[in-house]
Amino acid sequence: MKLVTKLGFGLAVTSFIVFIGCSQAQPTYSEESLGLRKVDLYSESSVIPDKTEYNETAPSTGGKTLDRAFQDAPPMIPHSVDGMLPITVDNNQCVGCHAPEVAPSLGALPYPQSHMINFRPDTSLAADGKITKNGKEIDNTSSEKLADVSIKKLASLSGARFNCSQCHAPQSKGQLVENTFQPDYTTEDGAKKSDWSGSKLTEGLDTLLDK
Ligand code: HEC
Ligand code: HEC
Repeated sequence: MKLVTKLGFGLAVTSFIVFIGCSQAQPTYSEESLGLRKVDLYSESSVIPDKTEYNETAPSTGGKTLDRAFQDAPPMIPHSVDGMLPITVDNNQCVGCHAPEVAPSLGALPYPQSHMINFRPDTSLAADGKITKNGKEIDNTSSEKLADVSIKKLASLSGARFNCSQCHAPQSKGQLVENTFQPDYTTEDGAKKSDWSGSKLTEGLDTLLDK
């Protein structure tokens, strides 16, 4: 065989193998199978999301609660919040039922210890630029001395927790996508109860808890 013919034969075999390889490795996807909407990308009118369905029943003793998303996650609100939002300085009905003094008698869970702690040290800035936190002078807000700045237990709800709906939201029954997340609770009753209290509050933090 002449050299040119040999080369030509070699090239033909190689491209045949590449062709077979490609045609086997390329699955195709329809545009309906992409994304969450499961319809083609051109017809907006056929996009009907799951209905938002909040629980309409008023809070009640023995009412159903929802499992926590993960250990010490803020619980979702299982009852109706009709007439309770927005929370204002003069109207916070959540506190009226969830404050530790009243909650047990109403069959509600009291807000936990963490909500009665000031995680923000009292801070002041003097005319000469010196910053004081909880009475301790520091050079700047990333100063290492901050490690000694304690968090303080309060007698009642911390102002930072007043706006409950900032972190707690009602749960809708609609399900846009299947949730396959499996929480791995670190306490036995982790699905129903927070365990973020006591020494856990400062675990991993360079700070102290003032009693
Ligand atoms: C009339 C009393 C009342 C009011 C007002 C109220 N709750 Fe509740 N809450 C309850 C009761 C009782 C439960 C127990 C379950 C139920 O009935 O749904 C509960 C359950 C909860 C839970 C679930 C706790 C758990 O164990 O998982 C959260 C979170 C919650 N409420 C937050 C709020 C927030 C935020 C507000 C204000 C927007 C509020 N609640 C207003 C009585 C009340
Ligand atoms: C800054 C976010 C935030 C705000 C604001 C907040 N919470 Fe929470 N809440 C959490 C988190 C996070 C948890 C779970 C961890 C913990 O115990 O602190 C929680 C836990 C709870 C629990 C469950 C306690 C338990 O023992 O399992 C209740 C009840 C609750 N909050 C009620 C309230 C109410 C009522 C308000 C308003 C007065 C409020 N929260 C404001 C974040 C918040």
